[in-house]
Amino acid sequence: MANIWVKKPLKQLLHEADATGEGSLKRTLSAGNLIALGIGAIIGAGLFVRTAAAAAESAGASVTISFILAAVGCALAGLCYAEFASMIPIAGSAYTYSYATMGEFVAWIIGWDLVLEYALGAATVSIAWSEYLNKLLGTLFGTEIPYQWCHSPFQVSELGTQGIMNIPALFILAALTLLLIRGVQESATVNAIIVIVKVAIVILFIALGWQFINPANHMPYIPEVSKVTDSAGVTHDFGGFWGIVGGAGTVFFAFIGFDAVSTAAQEAKNPKRDMPIGILVSLVVCTVLYILFAHVLTGVAHFSEFRSAGKEASVAYAIEKYMHGYGWLGTLITVAILAGFSSVILVMLLGQSRVFYSMAKDGLVPKVFCDLHPKFRTPYRSNILFFLFVGVFAAFVPGDVVGDMTSIGTLFAFVLVSLGVVIMRKTDPDTPRPFRTPFSPVVPVLGAVTCLLMMYGLGGENWMRLIVWMALGLAVYFGYSMRRSKLQRKEKETA
Ligand code: ALA
Repeated sequence: MANIWVKKPLKQLLHEADATGEGSLKRTLSAGNLIALGIGAIIGAGLFVRTAAAAAESAGASVTISFILAAVGCALAGLCYAEFASMIPIAGSAYTYSYATMGEFVAWIIGWDLVLEYALGAATVSIAWSEYLNKLLGTLFGTEIPYQWCHSPFQVSELGTQGIMNIPALFILAALTLLLIRGVQESATVNAIIVIVKVAIVILFIALGWQFINPANHMPYIPEVSKVTDSAGVTHDFGGFWGIVGGAGTVFFAFIGFDAVSTAAQEAKNPKRDMPIGILVSLVVCTVLYILFAHVLTGVAHFSEFRSAGKEASVAYAIEKYMHGYGWLGTLITVAILAGFSSVILVMLLGQSRVFYSMAKDGLVPKVFCDLHPKFRTPYRSNILFFLFVGVFAAFVPGDVVGDMTSIGTLFAFVLVSLGVVIMRKTDPDTPRPFRTPFSPVVPVLGAVTCLLMMYGLGGENWMRLIVWMALGLAVYFGYSMRRSKLQRKEKETA
């Protein structure tokens, strides 16, 4: 009888890490480096695209409160994440940690779910990239890619043109996949430059946009309750408490990536002190910037405009239309946003191939996902397969849909990780934990509840999508992975 709860021994994990050279990573990162890493992975389409979507479809000006709610959920779950990561002192992902602590079945669920976070996250940002590219072409050359070639078949323009496929989104994915295959390593310097540019434009927009805030756009701050249907036909609760919660589920996307900090645990000089600092400070910095940014954006343009003319490349739209004399800022921001999005997509595609690389090594997914390129030593087949998978979503599905699927998938992983901390404290109380989540079980349970609330706010359609994806995952696990699992086979041999 297969034991789906089998745990991967820590010794074996450390051994594998050594064999791939991960065991010898140098401890060079300071708290400051970790904060930069976090911010580099965090600020992206969530802020520059999803903020306007959340304001238009859920919360109006109170999207600022949505940001606070999402940040609280992330902070609570982030503390749990840090404990989990510190128990397994190697570089890895939630998949790796859960295999050692909660067993194969939970690890599979998390690994499968992470596809929503990384692969669909990459698709969402590539669609956002396409919007801003079009804006830039319009500003610089006065021409745009025809609507049907930069939108999914499920979208129709205000003039009635139907989308066919999103070619620019496919283009950026292809370019970055090629880079990944060549083995591009995001160096600390490049990351630092992108972080500075991103933070600088956010601050610039806040500072210059403040004087263009029209107080009438903020009235009432929390809109009256009603229903709003988005371009994909999904109906959202608009206004009031549930509008804020739904908005939090949407802008949660803007925080995805802060968990990247915990994957660098092994390279931190003083992980016990610096990990929570890295995670929490990058969260706090981003939250403050996000709230101010959202306040200015919904003050400069009325949220209802983000349902129509300002739906795409919303920040550039608001600047062009209302901040007269600042056209240069719109162009500058657009260029910086394109660069910033590219680095987020790269990190997500890289994260996806790393998770499937580990899963393939464990026998849970086919070996093709860990075949290395003879020259570049990168999992090139995996990169190509994921390009095709992500590409289908980027080319044929609207950004709103993949964005919310990314949010619900990641929130689900956070719920599992938070509850995992409580369970592990009971089942393995003696395993050393260099970092302990404070006030357990209150913090983990509150974290799980906040994330569940945001999942609820994302609405029935998104739950259905999550359920279908997870059901597919269970079928693959019981039909394939359980039998191919290297750990299961070893258990059988020794039994
Ligand atoms: N947080 C990242 C973004 O907003 C994923 O693009």
